[in-house]
Amino acid sequence: MMPRHAALALGLLLGSAGSSSEAADPAQGADLYRRWCVNCHGPAGRPVLPGAPDFSRPTSLLRSDLELMTRIRDGRGAMPAFQGQLRDREILDVVAHLRTLR
Ligand code: HEC
Repeated sequence: MMPRHAALALGLLLGSAGSSSEAADPAQGADLYRRWCVNCHGPAGRPVLPGAPDFSRPTSLLRSDLELMTRIRDGRGAMPAFQGQLRDREILDVVAHLRTLR
């Protein structure tokens, strides 16, 4: 669970970026995940591509939504950058979906 102040900070940040301040939508995120992420990360979050993290493990994703969003936006190693492909808002929806996988 995200501490209250972090949720607040995130809300403020999104607000100041001009995005919607509605909560992230995991159902929308699931659609995006199936389209963009499933080939490497697998339908249940168990990696298909070696080296990808296992999202079904409770010890994965111990980062804030903001940190995960930055990671997904910028990519790292074999993980592609989604900047320009997904909007921040959509990335947050995907992150909300990732959190349902464990
Ligand atoms: C081409 C294969 C591939 C695709 C497509 C892909 N990933 Fe990844 N992802 C990886 C790999 C490999 C890593 C491990 C990168 C590393 O740390 O070296 C990774 C790491 C991650 C991490 C962990 C970041 C961290 O450091 O904690 C997250 C979160 C993530 N991916 C989310 C996603 C999401 C969401 C999508 C779809 C929008 C996606 N990935 C699409 C291969 C992929």
